[in-house]
Amino acid sequence: MSKIKFAVLPGDYIGPEVMTEALRVLNVAAGKAGLTLETTVADVGGAGIDNHGKALPDSTLDVCRAADAILFGSVGGPKWESLPPKEQPERAALLPLRKAFNLFANIRPGLLYAELTDASPLKTNRIPEGIDIVCIRELTGGIYFGQPKSTTTLDNGEQQAIDTMVYQTSEIERIAEVAAVTAKARGGRVCSVDKANVLETSVLWRKTVIDYFAKNHPDLELSHMYVDNAAMQLARDPNQFDVLFTENMFGDILSDEMAVICGSLGMMSSASLGTEKNSHGHPFGLFEPAGGTAPDIAGMGVANPCAQILSGAMMLRYSFGQLELAEQIETAVRKTVTEDGLRTGDIAFGRDPVGTTAMADAIIGNL
Ligand code: IPM
Ligand code: MN
Repeated sequence: MSKIKFAVLPGDYIGPEVMTEALRVLNVAAGKAGLTLETTVADVGGAGIDNHGKALPDSTLDVCRAADAILFGSVGGPKWESLPPKEQPERAALLPLRKAFNLFANIRPGLLYAELTDASPLKTNRIPEGIDIVCIRELTGGIYFGQPKSTTTLDNGEQQAIDTMVYQTSEIERIAEVAAVTAKARGGRVCSVDKANVLETSVLWRKTVIDYFAKNHPDLELSHMYVDNAAMQLARDPNQFDVLFTENMFGDILSDEMAVICGSLGMMSSASLGTEKNSHGHPFGLFEPAGGTAPDIAGMGVANPCAQILSGAMMLRYSFGQLELAEQIETAVRKTVTEDGLRTGDIAFGRDPVGTTAMADAIIGNL
């Protein structure tokens, strides 16, 4: 491998700002390993709507199809909030991208450096060592995509809306496998989250997970938790989890809860892996920060670039098999924030905050 070829979809507001810095960091890291980046930039989200009339323009999809991975920024903001929900940048860009590339496995690390515990709303004496967990969310099934999905008017004039939660064993097994592989590289503990006391899909989920682990991963420690309890346990003692995995909507909610518990959204990266392999034989994936477009600080040069940079590291690991390179970037980010104590405003806590570019410069210095 000599080229790292990926699509760059910066998106809106702070998206392009942090993307610029992430690309600088990736360029330096790749260069040191004798690799070159080959990137194609395309509009997505609000930029897609403004320039092409669609949050996910066909031309952008083509750029993604020709690439080995997608590095995604953030989309959406006040400018497009009056559009119908279906056309709004977040939903109209992310959901079709997930479907188009079968991005079924969403990996969201919940990482809080011990030095940043002040960023967490939890009592910091409860998490003295920081937080290190992973939430794995099924991303292309369940109630998000199940049919029928409709809004109709009944005979009595009332409106009725229907969403359908559907899962098949193969969909459950493939996300269980991602959870298992992730746990093997970590603490070896997997907690499957469901609502098997109420939902048919969850009864199938739990049975399938139990059978799958018994057959394929008997060495891992598997547990099960109802989603309402999982929400409480996450707030009570996040480090009781190693890897937790769950269906689409539960994962949407729990991963946001995990993000807030881990402090700043500016530090949270994520990966969405597809069923297809790219030209290197690794999973095609989309990699994005969890934080969103932060319109209030856009254009000010103060956004935290770490989440975007760490998402780039995840891309190198999962879609290009560059484990060492990914780790070097992660280590450089950690050192910059912890030992060097450089902080953007979101994680400053009384320190003088540095800007987006200065943060990236320091990370590059640590590479
Ligand atoms: C996420 C987002 C999306 C989701 C929205 C924007 C469609 O909340 O990636 O978690 O619900 O999946
Ligand atoms: Mn969400």
